[in-house]
Amino acid sequence: MKLRRWLTCVLLLVFAMLIEALGAFVGVNIGTDVSDMPSAADVVAILKANQITHVRLYDVNAHMLQALANSSIQVIVGVTNEEVLRIGESPSVAATWINKNVAAYVPATNITAIAVGSEVLTTIPNVAPVLVPAMNYLHRALVAANLNFLVKVSTPQSMDIIPKPFPPSTAAFNSSWNSIIYQLLQFLKNTNSSYMLNAYPYYGYTKGDGIFPIEYALFRSLPSAKQIVDPNTLFHYNSMFDAMVDATYYSIEAFNFSNIPIVVTETGWPSFGGANEPDATLENAETYNNNLIRRVLNDSGPPSQPKVPINTYIYELFNEDKRNGPISEKNWGIFDTNGTAVCELSFTGSSRVTANSSRVFCVARDGADPDKLEAGLNWACGQGGANCSAIQEGQPCYSPNNAKSHASYAYNDYYQKKHSIGGTCDFDGTATITTVDPSYGSCIYAGSSNSSTNGGNSTPAASGPASPFGGSTNLQVSSLEYMIYCVLLALVIL
Ligand SMILES: *[C@@H]1O[C@H](CO)[C@@H](O)[C@H](O)[C@H]1NC(C)=O
Ligand SMILES: *[C@@H]1O[C@H](CO)[C@@H](O)[C@H](O)[C@H]1NC(C)=O
Ligand SMILES: *[C@@H]1O[C@H](CO)[C@@H](O)[C@H](O)[C@H]1NC(C)=O
Ligand SMILES: *[C@@H]1O[C@H](CO)[C@@H](O)[C@H](O)[C@H]1NC(C)=O
Ligand SMILES: *[C@@H]1O[C@H](CO)[C@@H](O)[C@H](O)[C@H]1NC(C)=O
Ligand SMILES: *[C@@H]1O[C@H](CO)[C@@H](O)[C@H](O)[C@H]1NC(C)=O
Ligand SMILES: *[C@@H]1O[C@H](CO)[C@@H](O)[C@H](O)[C@H]1NC(C)=O
Ligand SMILES: *[C@@H]1O[C@H](CO)[C@@H](O)[C@H](O)[C@H]1NC(C)=O
Ligand SMILES: *[C@@H]1O[C@H](CO)[C@@H](O)[C@H](O)[C@H]1NC(C)=O
Ligand SMILES: *[C@@H]1O[C@H](CO)[C@@H](O)[C@H](O)[C@H]1NC(C)=O
Repeated sequence: MKLRRWLTCVLLLVFAMLIEALGAFVGVNIGTDVSDMPSAADVVAILKANQITHVRLYDVNAHMLQALANSSIQVIVGVTNEEVLRIGESPSVAATWINKNVAAYVPATNITAIAVGSEVLTTIPNVAPVLVPAMNYLHRALVAANLNFLVKVSTPQSMDIIPKPFPPSTAAFNSSWNSIIYQLLQFLKNTNSSYMLNAYPYYGYTKGDGIFPIEYALFRSLPSAKQIVDPNTLFHYNSMFDAMVDATYYSIEAFNFSNIPIVVTETGWPSFGGANEPDATLENAETYNNNLIRRVLNDSGPPSQPKVPINTYIYELFNEDKRNGPISEKNWGIFDTNGTAVCELSFTGSSRVTANSSRVFCVARDGADPDKLEAGLNWACGQGGANCSAIQEGQPCYSPNNAKSHASYAYNDYYQKKHSIGGTCDFDGTATITTVDPSYGSCIYAGSSNSSTNGGNSTPAASGPASPFGGSTNLQVSSLEYMIYCVLLALVIL
């Protein structure tokens, strides 16, 4: 029994380390059309305070790049649309750009990619013919500076170049761009770079005239009568975000290219809008961004590429009040410039999301199958990462010494730690939610008003959401916790 558990442990440990290495991330775009833009040092302080590890800049601001030095934050820098034309016409302009804006800052500033222009095909189509030449010249300059393995070159494109994104399996790029798209994919393939996609379910939903339910845009679960299914592949799409990413994968595949990963360089939801923009609300923005983070940190890809995580950058750090356009255009920010969150978000999966005052607990169900309870208890205290010291002999929650009582304590501890990142109160049907505080005597359950550790923010999770026995994989475990568990188990056995 112990040996089997040990072997499982070793396998899962290897798996957990792989997941760790491949773990998806959520970064943030930093637009600067902000009237009271904080200093670069303050911006970096806000990023660090919120454990944001990846940012994209739209240009190459020297102050920002200096402030980001030695921060271990990874940075995408931008070639502006105005610069694309000159770079695309001249290798020496490209080389100068690289030396001045990239070589001068690496490795102290961790520049990992250059985004060449922003939605060039749809915003400045006249420059499109020199887009890939510009990317090529920049890449060659990186090769000359021996930086090509550190810094990748790509170009963010709008979903608008895919005229009919649903169903994803039949999506294709607008054929008027065929030759440029072909050159682009060839370039990305040759340089091992990602396809950069700006994907906005907000626009997909608001321009869809009611074709899709808002739940689908906000990653909320859909009633079974309204499931969104691709009729050709029969894949279920839980969110428009996934469908947009898949539409792009299928469009790339239609050009016979494979293994070009997609990174979502922009997505988000405006928190405020004009009278004709009723969906731009704080509540929707909070729902979208939190569910997005949860979705991305679960490490899975879209249905057609389940193993390729969807690394994503939220649009955007601050409201850009100086931008033109509808009111919503100025309200995509997730922080006020003083660092106060516009809506509560957590970038690590560990919860900083303020809990609702009506507390809920997760406990063992009356009459639950004893074997399943035992299995659930073992899982919660092991892989689940619950702190089960209080139910050990001599500790406050040991008595009553029965599986139901111990399972209740362990389930709840797990649930308080993990529910904000998708952990469920299920345990093969043996668990249930209650608002009645199960604490008794000196046995204090996590989440009760008397508990010192309020579960939520105590354990940063390295990998995605947990869902005991509900999900299809073993990803429920925070890899770090699992490694600790495995090492401890190894010490016990050896
Ligand atoms: C970054 O750290 C290196 C090595 O510790 C140091 O030499 C350098 O001055 C630092 N750069 C900045 C911009 O802080
Ligand atoms: C830059 O990011 C890479 C990739 O994650 C990492 O391996 C490296 O240690 C980082 N460098 C610095 C200076 O933080
Ligand atoms: C494809 O792009 C061209 C050029 O921008 C545009 O005129 C045309 O309407 C687009 N086609 C579709 C189906 O969107
Ligand atoms: C791309 O990846 C392949 C295989 O991983 C490697 O052999 C090749 O050198 C890489 N090319 C570049 C330009 O990074
Ligand atoms: C992709 O490959 C298929 C089969 O080899 C071929 O029929 C098709 O024309 C190719 N498509 C493109 C865009 O090259
Ligand atoms: C991760 O998210 C995808 C897409 O929503 C979902 O299909 C999958 O079940 C999730 N995986 C886990 C382990 O929660
Ligand atoms: C930050 O700014 C917002 C909006 O201007 C304001 O509502 C909030 O009170 C400020 N917070 C702090 C801590 O100053
Ligand atoms: C908290 O619960 C109340 C009542 O159940 C609800 O109206 C409110 O929206 C909830 N707040 C949050 C942040 O979930
Ligand atoms: C586990 O809970 C006990 C109290 O029950 C506490 O003393 C201990 O610090 C906790 N351990 C961890 C790792 O949180
Ligand atoms: C919480 O603490 C208060 C004051 O110490 C005490 O009166 C109350 O009974 C405690 N509640 C629980 C559930 O232990």
